[in-house]
Amino acid sequence: MERTFLAIKPDGVQRALVGEIIRRFETKGFTLVALKFMSVSKELAEAHYGVHRSRPFFAGLVEFITSGPVVAMVWEGEGVIAAARKMIGATNPLTAEPGTIRGDFGVNIGRNIIHGSDAPETAKTEVALWFKPEELVSWEPQIKPWLHE
Ligand code: RTP
Ligand code: MG
Repeated sequence: MERTFLAIKPDGVQRALVGEIIRRFETKGFTLVALKFMSVSKELAEAHYGVHRSRPFFAGLVEFITSGPVVAMVWEGEGVIAAARKMIGATNPLTAEPGTIRGDFGVNIGRNIIHGSDAPETAKTEVALWFKPEELVSWEPQIKPWLHE
């Protein structure tokens, strides 16, 4: 089953959006596999955003993501990687569609509330970067027959 890595960034935590964001993925029908409330080290932030190392916004991005607690999560479900990106919305909240998390709650590209893995390969890498294998919980939601035919 497909898994993705999602992280509510320091702005999402400070703005008290943790419950609202988790609710969206829960009620959509995806399965929570791992969750932790944590501070992010500079090393972890730089590894996570390593692909952006040469970009002008990299230092600010690392500084921001390490500036306060985040909620790191793994969610599971058919097509969850692409679907979660759709639910999150475009990178810039100002132009993100209403109904998406960024479209509903943000106005600035540097404060876009939540991260989501962008492809199967990055999802695999990010889940392994943020979680130990024993922190991932495999379980069968009892509502499954009501979500899938
Ligand atoms: P994320 O990785 O955080 O889920 O965001 P994303 O895929 O939608 O966007 P990405 O291109 O991966 O960029 C990572 C984060 O860098 C910040 N950013 N700032 N000032 C800028 O032009 C700029 N571009 C990107 C954003 O906070 C973005 O989430
Ligand atoms: Mg990205």
